[in-house]
Amino acid sequence: MELEDIANEIKKCTKCGLHKNRTNTVPGDGDSKAEIMFIGEGPGEKEDQQGLPFVGAAGKYLTELLEMIGLDRSDVFIANVVKCRPPKNRDPLPEEVETCTTNYLFKQIDLIKPKVIVTLGRHSMNRFIEGKTISQDHGKPFRVKGQVYYPIYHPAAALYRGTLRADIEADFKKLPKVVEKVKAEAKKPKSALLPDKPKKEKQQTLL
Ligand code: URA
Repeated sequence: MELEDIANEIKKCTKCGLHKNRTNTVPGDGDSKAEIMFIGEGPGEKEDQQGLPFVGAAGKYLTELLEMIGLDRSDVFIANVVKCRPPKNRDPLPEEVETCTTNYLFKQIDLIKPKVIVTLGRHSMNRFIEGKTISQDHGKPFRVKGQVYYPIYHPAAALYRGTLRADIEADFKKLPKVVEKVKAEAKKPKSALLPDKPKKEKQQTLL
């Protein structure tokens, strides 16, 4: 199965109520072999119209943040936890997130095999990492079941709340180092790595 096959399945999907109001599905976009995968919450109006993720105001800011660290959108893969726009941009319901991620997003991740998944905002973070708070844990990489996650604020929140702008920009600036560190760790013998799941703490901070 390839990313295109998954996108074709998503196009026909009627597994949850979100399909009823969509104009287009938004499977995700970018490099199928990206080292960094960004995962947002769900498509908004512009994304629904164009079938592409992060093409509205938050997307413009995300593009600027990528450029700030020398990356182009085509260097990364950008997706969302749900592939269809929730009505009036409401938060996706837990069952919508569950259905969409288990059927599609997790399969996309398995194919892309990113070194680091950057979760954008708390809804995306919560789908992958338990017991973390975005205000305290943004900008800290966590390893869960072998996959490294790097939670940061959602660009829309940072766009509309100036105080978060400095945080998201600082976290972005640290991202290249996080990726390098994950790549360096991958080269070490397994015995040199900290265990994936220490007994008392499920998730392990990397840096
Ligand atoms: N916000 C998101 O979470 N995803 C998009 O694709 C656009 C805005």
